[in-house]
Amino acid sequence: MLKPPTDYSHSKAITVSRRNFLKSGMALAAGGFLFPYKTFARECELTTDDIEGPFYAEDAPFRSVIASSDEPGDRFAFSGTVFGDDCETPLPNTVVDIWHANNDGCYSIFETCTTGNPDNDDYNLRGRVMTDENGSYAFETIRPGFYGSRPQHFHMRMVAEDGNELITQVYFEGDPNIEADSWASHPDAEARIIPLTQTETGYSGTFDIQLDARPILSTDDPWKPLPDGFALFPAFPNPFNAVTEIRFNIGTATHTVIEVFDLKGKPVKSLSEGLLKAGEHMAVWNGHDKFGNPVPSGMYVIRFDTAHFSDYQKVVLVK
Ligand SMILES: [Fe+2]
Repeated sequence: MLKPPTDYSHSKAITVSRRNFLKSGMALAAGGFLFPYKTFARECELTTDDIEGPFYAEDAPFRSVIASSDEPGDRFAFSGTVFGDDCETPLPNTVVDIWHANNDGCYSIFETCTTGNPDNDDYNLRGRVMTDENGSYAFETIRPGFYGSRPQHFHMRMVAEDGNELITQVYFEGDPNIEADSWASHPDAEARIIPLTQTETGYSGTFDIQLDARPILSTDDPWKPLPDGFALFPAFPNPFNAVTEIRFNIGTATHTVIEVFDLKGKPVKSLSEGLLKAGEHMAVWNGHDKFGNPVPSGMYVIRFDTAHFSDYQKVVLVK
């Protein structure tokens, strides 16, 4: 669904405070399991938020090239690394979503743009990528144009694996419109004004992001045996679209719970609960919650809990 355009004055950026983060950590504990976070030694300067603006579209496609090769404007290579709240640990699997104006300062979808969008792309100059194992992201696009009195800018939305998110904007050094722009000239925006580098094909810019978020360390060692014949096997398929199967072994008859949680530790659906005999078992999840409603795309946690042993694994629902 696309959000209708709204006035800037009604725009609201999402700020995730440390207090909120701690709350979500408590939610995990209440959910009965804890992700094994690294210990972070020091505070650092987290990337600040900025207004979302009226032109955000949900469900932008996952792609790194967001401007057609025929799109008017200077080509722009935009990249960086997403770090966690120690400003050092890269955050893999963070969704980085960007959107920006075309060379004439026009936003497709919400505005009738008389230039640009040579491919009639519904999501022109919009796209999402997921950071790699090093926390890196990269987009190929064009340099955004000016509109109104605003400086040129990229809009960005980041959602980390642990569910924390940040909406912000990135500006460019030397932009004459920064000084009079209340958002870009705010002291909090200083670290978001990046240098432009001229390249053979246009420009490039680097923007590293420090999120108030922490990595979820992988527990996805395949075929991880548990003592006494207990085992939780990798879900298949994973990522999945329709259903995923979770096979597990029980070493001795015991009360067993297989339950799906979201990344904030909120229960989504119980797949199996009761006394199970020793042996091989399987649970199936169809991507629906306990009310039978489909849940959004994203990462979920399957928890395997018995009187003797507990374990969990991550699955990714892709629609
Ligand atoms: Fe904008």
